[in-house]
Amino acid sequence: MKRTVKTLVAASIVASAAAGAGAYFGLVNVGADDPHLPAVHTFLAMARDRSIEVRARDIEVPNLNDEALIRAGAGNYNSMCIGCHLAPGTAETELSQSLYPAPPNLTKVGVDGSPATAFWIIKHGIKATGMPAWGKSMGDPYIWGMVAFLQQLPTLDAEKYQALVTTSGGHQHGGGETDMHNHEGQHGSDKSAGAGHDDAAGEDHHAGEVAGASHHDSGQAPDEPEPESKPAAKTHTHADGKEHVHGG
Ligand code: HEC
Repeated sequence: MKRTVKTLVAASIVASAAAGAGAYFGLVNVGADDPHLPAVHTFLAMARDRSIEVRARDIEVPNLNDEALIRAGAGNYNSMCIGCHLAPGTAETELSQSLYPAPPNLTKVGVDGSPATAFWIIKHGIKATGMPAWGKSMGDPYIWGMVAFLQQLPTLDAEKYQALVTTSGGHQHGGGETDMHNHEGQHGSDKSAGAGHDDAAGEDHHAGEVAGASHHDSGQAPDEPEPESKPAAKTHTHADGKEHVHGG
């Protein structure tokens, strides 16, 4: 018995040393265009699922059928999530196609698992996947709004989706919202594939903006950074119908 234990310990030391040496000499390809081996993928998926299940166990789920909560979630989802997780009727984006692991298409999946695990994932993010920890900038009630909205999402067509977003009050989470004026990765919602980045010529995202957004005056370089301090409470509607409220 003692002998077996010794052999096992020695074998595992050799195995970890080999793994360490392999990693040190650069054998592991961390490129996002090189999928994991099936065994590694299975192990990581198990670790991820168990990690989340254990941590989400004691989370209390509020009433997710509340209409106002669902509506608020729609505005935030549309502002922050569709570049990776898509919206009804939109094409794949550069982000959704190129991230590894790929962001699930939430218009099909909705809440996969329990509302508590979805809440945990949105709040804490998932390390080294591209899924951000939104709890760093959003309070719990706003995160629950997105969970409530996600439960409805697979049942919405493009029209119903847009109606909810338009009546939602846009991007709001009690202050600290940042602009996503350029909608990185969110182009192409109604453009055919291959239209590329022809935004300057093809479409004017900022044509419909209202007063208070003067830094978008035409002629400005499209990649000019936003000013650090912003005027209080400004709303602007983009030409594509997306509306953001800031500072509220
Ligand atoms: C930069 C891309 C990106 C953005 C933006 C993003 N996510 Fe994710 N999200 C991911 C990726 C990638 C995964 C998959 C991670 C994995 O496979 O472990 C994911 C996973 C999820 C999951 C788990 C889905 C499942 O079926 O397991 C939920 C829920 C989710 N995201 C919600 C959101 C919400 C809500 C927002 C907006 C507030 C958002 N995400 C914004 C990349 C993103």
